[in-house]
Amino acid sequence: MTTTTVHVPLGERAYDVRIGQGLLANAGAEIAPLLARPRVAVLTDETVAGVHLETLRQGLEAQGIAMTALALPPGEATKGWPEFTRAVEWLLAEKVERRDIVIALGGGVIGDLAGFAAAVLRRGVRFVQIPTSLLAQVDSSVGGKTGINSKHGKNLIGAFHQPALVLADIGVLDSLPPRDFLAGYGEVVKYGLLGDAEFFEWLEENGPGLAAGDHALRTRAVRRSVEMKAEIVVRDETEQGDRALLNLGHTFCHALEAATGYSDRLLHGEGVAIGCALAFELSSRLGLCSQEEPSRVRAHLRAMGMKTDLADIPGDLPDADGLLTLMAQDKKVIDGRLRFILARGIGEAFVADNVDPGTVRQVLADALAARGLIDRSQ
Ligand code: GLY
Repeated sequence: MTTTTVHVPLGERAYDVRIGQGLLANAGAEIAPLLARPRVAVLTDETVAGVHLETLRQGLEAQGIAMTALALPPGEATKGWPEFTRAVEWLLAEKVERRDIVIALGGGVIGDLAGFAAAVLRRGVRFVQIPTSLLAQVDSSVGGKTGINSKHGKNLIGAFHQPALVLADIGVLDSLPPRDFLAGYGEVVKYGLLGDAEFFEWLEENGPGLAAGDHALRTRAVRRSVEMKAEIVVRDETEQGDRALLNLGHTFCHALEAATGYSDRLLHGEGVAIGCALAFELSSRLGLCSQEEPSRVRAHLRAMGMKTDLADIPGDLPDADGLLTLMAQDKKVIDGRLRFILARGIGEAFVADNVDPGTVRQVLADALAARGLIDRSQ
C-alpha cells in the first residue's frame, strides 16, 4: 500500500490528510492512535454503507476497535435539521463521550453533517473524515467547514470544526459513477485555475488517464489539490480573505444550482466547472486576461467530456436578469456588492469586490444566446 501525507499545520488543530490505496481497509491502524478507548461511531449514507461499511468494519476490527453505525438516506435533502437531529440524538444514545471519535464515511453531505454533529455534540468531539467521493477528497473533507442547509439557503447553519484525521482512499473512487467522478474533477481543475498553472497543464496532459482510472495519477491529483487547499486554509482558516479564492466559479455555480433546483440536472461539481469557464470569460471581458484563457479552460473541460457551457444544462434556465438576481442572493454578496473570484490568467486568481453587474449580465446573456444556437442539452 502506497500512501502519501499532507499535513495541515493549524497549531493545536493540526492534522494529517492521508492519501492512497487501501486506507479504508487499514482504517483501524490509522485511527487507533487517536482513540481513548477502542470504539467509534460512524455516520454514513445508505448507498455508501452498502459498498464500503463492511470493509471499514473489518479494518477497525483488525485492531480490536468496535464500530457502531448509522446510515442516513443519500442525497442533499439529508443535510437539514431533521436528519441532523436524528444523527446527534443517535450519537448520544450510543453514549459517544467527549474523548471519543465520530467517523464521517461518505461524500460532502455526510462529511458536512457529521462534522457539524461532532462540533456540537457535548460541545465538541473529534471526528475523522473518510471521504468517498472525489469532490469530498479534494475539497469538503479538508478545511473544517461543517454544516447543514436551511430553507433560507445552503450551508447557512454550521461551524468551523477541523477533523482530527482525513483518510482519502483512492481505491474507493473506482466505485463512483463516471458522472460523479467528473463532477469532482471540476473541483480539481479549479485548483489549477486558481493558483497553479503548471498543475493545470499537468491536468491537460493527464486528465484523460486520471478519468480512465489510473491510481497513481489520481493520487497525484488529489495530493496536489489537498496541498493547495491546506495552504489556503492555513493562511485564512475562517475565510476573512484568501480562503474565498476556493470559491472560484462558485458565484455562477450557486445561481445555476438555484436555477436548476439543486437537482440532478446539474451536480455541484458540474456547476463549478461551468462557473470557472464563466469566471474566466468575465475576467477576459473585464480586460484582465486574454480571450485565449477562457478558450483554454473550455477546451480542457470539453476534452474531458464535462459540462462546460450553459448549453450543457438540460431544461429551461432563467434569463440573464433572473440569473443575476439569484447571484445577488448568494452569501458571498457583501453590502449588496457582487463578489467574484476573477483571474489575470490561468493560475492567477484574486478576489474582486464590486464587479460591474452590467458586464456580468452581458456574459450571461451571451452564454444564454449561445445556448439557443448550440443546445447540447436536448
Ligand atoms: N469549499 C470551500 C472552502 O472550503 O472554503
